[in-house]
Amino acid sequence: MSRESMISGDVLGPEETAEESTLASLRPRLLSEYIGQETVVQKLAITIKAALGRGEPLDHILFHGPPGLGKTTLAHIVSNEMNAGLVCSSGPALERAADLVGILTNLQQGDVLFIDEIHRLPRIVEEYLYPAMEDFQIDIVLDPGPHARTVRLDLSEFTVIGATTRAGLITGPLRNRFGLSLHMQFYKTNELAEIIRRSAGILKLSITSGGAETIALRSRGTPRICNRLLKRVRDFAQVEGRETVTEDVAVEAMDIHGVDEAGLDGLDRKYLRVIIDQYAGGPVGVAALAATLNEEQDTLIDVVEPYLLISGFLNRTSRGRMSTAKACRHLGLRPTGQEELPL
Ligand code: ADE
Repeated sequence: MSRESMISGDVLGPEETAEESTLASLRPRLLSEYIGQETVVQKLAITIKAALGRGEPLDHILFHGPPGLGKTTLAHIVSNEMNAGLVCSSGPALERAADLVGILTNLQQGDVLFIDEIHRLPRIVEEYLYPAMEDFQIDIVLDPGPHARTVRLDLSEFTVIGATTRAGLITGPLRNRFGLSLHMQFYKTNELAEIIRRSAGILKLSITSGGAETIALRSRGTPRICNRLLKRVRDFAQVEGRETVTEDVAVEAMDIHGVDEAGLDGLDRKYLRVIIDQYAGGPVGVAALAATLNEEQDTLIDVVEPYLLISGFLNRTSRGRMSTAKACRHLGLRPTGQEELPL
């Protein structure tokens, strides 16, 4: 069938822009093309093979982990592998129960319903999803008021694929309705380098393994970032008349964009500097940091902090965020902040 439809005009989620859709062409379409996330891929391969073997729709799947690690890509891959239709929506786009009911009643047998940012589904909508996921039925109320009647609708058997950057915000009843809950990890440098070489091949861009590795090292463990950086490096190489992306070309291009050798960008460095300079290294609450930086708290929690935490630049304690000695060294500051280290 391979039918893809997009609804609600919010398919990519609010933090994903038009540039991301051009990155879509770099996305793998099959599990066999997918690089990294070995255990996730292995579990999916078994589940898909088993469901296809039984001729049944796939169990509901929840992907959780930081943005840009491939949750949406895997939803597309799963629907391709199942030869099923895919309908994409997101938690914030499904404002009213009627939005969800409209989608559910139009699903065909085996279709995949992808709900990005599922933790942002309004509670009333979420409650409609429970019986739909469990029994493929929904009760809708007709003629609300004194003459209200409920009508039970049978739905086609379908699969929900939910994606979230905040597994902790998913309610227990919703979490329990997913047969498979898969955590996405940051990618290793060699996996990102392989993704970069694959993408360069698709873009018909010549790149050395040193060039690919250099970009991979600055990609914060995230394929979306490595593909985005690759495009910036490609622009630079083209404009400078450099035919092949070598390590030098990659470094020069990424320096222009303020992406340093640890993969930190301007906002990451500003975030760490604020903790060190203005809050004496912390602990400081995320709300105070968001106010000082004039950034959304969600951006700090979802986008900035996960990589700083995993790469040892930041600690999270019960009293708030704290910078580490590594962060000070990276910014050329003494661990107490302020003073520049002598050269
Ligand atoms: N492009 C983006 N993510 C990818 C992945 N995990 N494998 C292959 N190509 C990709």
